[in-house]
Amino acid sequence: MKVGIGILGGGTVGGALLQYLINEQKAIVAKTGLELEVRGVAVRSLSKTRSFPIPTGLITDQPEQLVDDPSVDLVVELMGGLEPAGDLVMQALQAGKPVVTANKELVATRGAELIRRAEEKGVSLLFEAAVGGGIPIIRPLSESLAGEQITRVLGIVNGTTNYILTRMSEGLGFAEALEEAQALGYAEADPTADVSGADAAAKTAILASLAFGTWVSVDGVYREGIESLDPVDLRYAADLGYLPKLLAIGEETPNGVSARVHPALVPLDHPLALVRGANNAVFIEGPQVGELLFMGPGAGGGPTATAVLGDIIDAARELLAEAQVAPRIRFAPGRLLDFGEVETKWYVRLEVADAPGVLALVAGTFGDAGVSIKSVWQEGRGEDATLLLITHDALESNQRAAVTALRSLEVVTEVAATIRVQSDEP
Ligand SMILES: NC(=O)c1ccc[n+]([C@@H]2O[C@H](COP(=O)([O-])OP(=O)(O)OC[C@H]3O[C@@H](n4cnc5c(N)ncnc54)[C@H](OP(=O)(O)O)[C@@H]3O)[C@@H](O)[C@H]2O)c1
Repeated sequence: MKVGIGILGGGTVGGALLQYLINEQKAIVAKTGLELEVRGVAVRSLSKTRSFPIPTGLITDQPEQLVDDPSVDLVVELMGGLEPAGDLVMQALQAGKPVVTANKELVATRGAELIRRAEEKGVSLLFEAAVGGGIPIIRPLSESLAGEQITRVLGIVNGTTNYILTRMSEGLGFAEALEEAQALGYAEADPTADVSGADAAAKTAILASLAFGTWVSVDGVYREGIESLDPVDLRYAADLGYLPKLLAIGEETPNGVSARVHPALVPLDHPLALVRGANNAVFIEGPQVGELLFMGPGAGGGPTATAVLGDIIDAARELLAEAQVAPRIRFAPGRLLDFGEVETKWYVRLEVADAPGVLALVAGTFGDAGVSIKSVWQEGRGEDATLLLITHDALESNQRAAVTALRSLEVVTEVAATIRVQSDEP
């Protein structure tokens, strides 16, 4: 049976999807029994040169009309951004058409509202490609693991920053590594959403919402980017046996849900340390299932279009079964933890006077704030002494209080850097 598809967006992902739907139509029919027929592709510019040209009969610059077209049974949103994508998705759902989207920003910002509307209309809103590109992660979380009490999601969900950090830990400065990532097509001309952690925060919001069944909007995700990491610390970290990663972390604790994105040092023998270059990887942990690791290409036209196509096939099967779609996941209200209430471990670099008693003063200051020190190293002597410390787990608010107090010590010339450390050792 035929299913009419309207694609909003014919760029990197939309173009790859269109190419696949046209060139591999027979293979898709052979494997799924579904005839997925593209009825139109909406773009901004009709005259742009494209690596996979959109056939004249399909291209349009009128996305609203395409959504309303009665021959379009299913809408695929691959435009990106909040508007007009959000209103177009709403328009499609309102008309009772299932929607597939890869738009993490939209799902993380308006997901609760859009999912509610899809439920009201008895149609699916699917977004496998919004997190982890080609890695199946949304369906495992919302279906395969629907019965598990997931306690943590932890991973690397932004390939651009992972590439930059990989190169920085090999000796490049931030600007050089970014330039290289741009030349290789791993980073946009405007890399802000990636390096600031905003892209990863949107994905973390989606992962945490699905994992814990409490809707976490992107505004509820604590976020720090990688711009201020100093290569000096990455060199020290390497000597101490750590690599820097931009981590996406969602945790369910007895006091509430925490969702955060920030750079962290991971031990060299941690599986996430092995995730190099532009790849993504996500751990899911639960009491019954233990630890699951999902890893692979987190972006790119081909991998992302594969995830989109999987969703299209899923939604097309539901359409053909004429099924009233049951909600895949229900969200209950829950408490979102303030970042200060979360336990973290810190690496701290201090410039100190090399005088007797300095270490005791520093340790005492940490202790007064409720933070104990796990290990200390000293580099250099005299006026240029550098202390590197790694703390034990303590409340983030206590770690911050300790660092504030250190700044007022006369023997501490500078608190030169602080980076969180992610390791499961005590
Ligand atoms: N690229 C990836 O690797 C990747 C991975 C995972 C998820 N995603 C998500 O997938 C979505 C698409 O990303 P992309 O990389 O394919 O973006 P892209 O290359 O910039 O393509 C966007 C497409 O949407 C069209 N478009 C934008 N605004 C429009 C408007 N107002 N009216 C009509 N058409 C409009 C553009 O038209 P023109 O071609 O005429 O400019 C273009 O064809 C985003 O939500 C992104 O976050 C992308």
